[in-house]
Amino acid sequence: MDIVVRSDEIEQVLFDAEVIGRRVGELGRLINAAYVGKDLVVIGVLKGAFVFTADLVRRINIPIEVDFVELVSYVTETETSDEVFLTKDVKTNISGRDVLIIEDIVDTGLTTRFLIDHLNIREPASVEVCSLLYKPARQRVNVPLTYVGFKVGKVFVAGYGLDYAGKYRNLPDIVKLRGVD
Ligand code: IMP
Repeated sequence: MDIVVRSDEIEQVLFDAEVIGRRVGELGRLINAAYVGKDLVVIGVLKGAFVFTADLVRRINIPIEVDFVELVSYVTETETSDEVFLTKDVKTNISGRDVLIIEDIVDTGLTTRFLIDHLNIREPASVEVCSLLYKPARQRVNVPLTYVGFKVGKVFVAGYGLDYAGKYRNLPDIVKLRGVD
């Protein structure tokens, strides 16, 4: 049987499934407290945030609606382009409602900035961002990040929904791959 990743492909496990699970629980508690009595729409950003979104919404215990957008910006396997394309929009009406964007990672910030501006056209009551990972050293545009799971350096990471060349999304841990920077 094929395996998700050979152990020699992994240079370092940065966050294992247990550590991620604990942090997702903490983020869920913060979100529960912040949105009591609000009309919350959670928007997961495909594809990278599909695992995080699935885990996080199950730690949110107030009534919410869940929707997804898909944004694409890659030019190479590890570098994003300045241009962001929306390939799937939200279907849920967000006008006058509180929106929480669920991101896998804020790298340059261009994707999240684009999405915030795109959603603001529909005049939601608020737009906040919850990103599992954040690379402050790579950030190029200002993005308000209300909730961050973990900060990482300039390293390219994979697993827990994040891909390298389309693979490794099903890895339960977040890892640095050997030879991929
Ligand atoms: P941006 O540079 O902040 O616009 O990031 C765009 C997208 O690139 C993110 O939503 C991720 O899907 C992807 N990305 C950025 N850094 C990494 C990484 O280290 N591993 C996997 N995907 C990444």
